[in-house]
Amino acid sequence: MSIAIASDHGGFELKQAIIKYFDKNEISYTDLGTYSTESVDYPDIAISCAEAVARGEYEKGIIICGTGIGVCIAANKVKGIRAAQCHDTFSARMSRLHNDANILTMGGRVIGSGLAIEIVKAWLASDFEGERHQRRVNKISQYESNR
Ligand code: RB5
Repeated sequence: MSIAIASDHGGFELKQAIIKYFDKNEISYTDLGTYSTESVDYPDIAISCAEAVARGEYEKGIIICGTGIGVCIAANKVKGIRAAQCHDTFSARMSRLHNDANILTMGGRVIGSGLAIEIVKAWLASDFEGERHQRRVNKISQYESNR
């Protein structure tokens, strides 16, 4: 599975903790930045990662900012993106099973790295259930296409 990970300065430390987990567990990923705690604008980071996922360059994306809110709002403006902000493992799992979320967002100022890594594990391990959920997701895609 190809994974892109990105953050603004508010999510930088948590991004680095997740990258450490990926490295330790030989999970491949691409780090799309930011690469320091210097202030950047979260929409730039979120939209660039979301567009790469929407183009099919990555199967899934993980985007982190201070709260997980700004990057979620921005990523969801990109056609084909279903970004879910999850700060618990149940929501992370359900965002895959029912919503086929292709981007996970979290807040580096909201949760610690231990919980965030459990959320990432749950999210990456869960598959979309399809069936009635496919019909519902299709309605979102149809709305998006007709705008
Ligand atoms: C940056 O200070 C902060 O606004 C950003 O990381 C994020 O929380 C926005 O939603």
